[in-house]
Amino acid sequence: TQYEYILTSAPEPGVQLITLNRPKALNALCSPLFAELNTALEAADKDDAVGAIVITGSEKAFAAGADIKEMKDKQFSDVYKNRFLEDWANLSKIRKPVIAAVSGFALGGGCELALMCDIILASPTAKFGQPEINLGVIPGGGGSQRLASLIGKSRTMEMVLTGRMISAQEAEKWGLVSRVVPEGEGEVVKEAVKVATEIASKSQIAVQAAKEVVNAAYELNLAEGLRFERRIFHGLFATDDQKEGMAAFAEKRKPNFTHS
Ligand code: HXC
Repeated sequence: TQYEYILTSAPEPGVQLITLNRPKALNALCSPLFAELNTALEAADKDDAVGAIVITGSEKAFAAGADIKEMKDKQFSDVYKNRFLEDWANLSKIRKPVIAAVSGFALGGGCELALMCDIILASPTAKFGQPEINLGVIPGGGGSQRLASLIGKSRTMEMVLTGRMISAQEAEKWGLVSRVVPEGEGEVVKEAVKVATEIASKSQIAVQAAKEVVNAAYELNLAEGLRFERRIFHGLFATDDQKEGMAAFAEKRKPNFTHS
């Protein structure tokens, strides 16, 4: 597929890399960009050869938010009737792991895009923020809800009410990202591809089940979540990959997963 606003590649077997590529606007997430991103994600999700997905931007910007120039003249009736930005939620329906490799600005919808991914790795240059308050609006892509459960109320309130950008180091300390990689051009993408390659070597069924149960922790109460986890765990005993994984351990060899 030819895309205008994104680039796709397979830097390692099993890994789909999606690079947001709208440099003139710091990867502002205009509707056609987001539609392309969704198309690429859905294609990767369906492709048996893909085990994990990495989303990145440029050195200067992961994404500077939704496209303000596209939004500025919209009326309530437009955004409500046309379900403006509702297709953003598609990302959370992707079953394969999605890793965000963030350098530079991850603001507004860009921060929210990273928060919808399963793992966030940050370059020391990364800056996260929800500056919507400066535009007379609020986060609309899940930022208020996801930040509150990840970094707590006081930090979320500070970010959302002041619009202040936080550094990669703060983001790491607050648990917004899993880690900050050493500095250097392209380092964060390299590291994300490494993590994705590792994940792609596992049973895809087990990986998808693992993602599903971890995500359930953010939706269910503890008793329901524990029951859900155990049932999914039981279910994996119906797969060839469980037989192969455990046999390989007992025979002291590497497993050869068939994703079945
Ligand atoms: C449209 C944008 C943009 C955006 C940058 N640009 N961010 N265009 N929407 N979100 C454009 C600029 O207009 C400019 O275009 C070019 O990109 C380069 O940006 P500069 O501002 O010149 O760069 P710099 O001085 O380095 O400042 C970088 C910046 C600043 C601090 C990131 O661009 C900025 O504040 N951007 C807006 C960030 C923001 O408010 N994001 C939240 C959006 S609301 P020209 O044509 O002048 O060269 C949102 C709602 C989420 O995300 C809802 C989700 C469902």
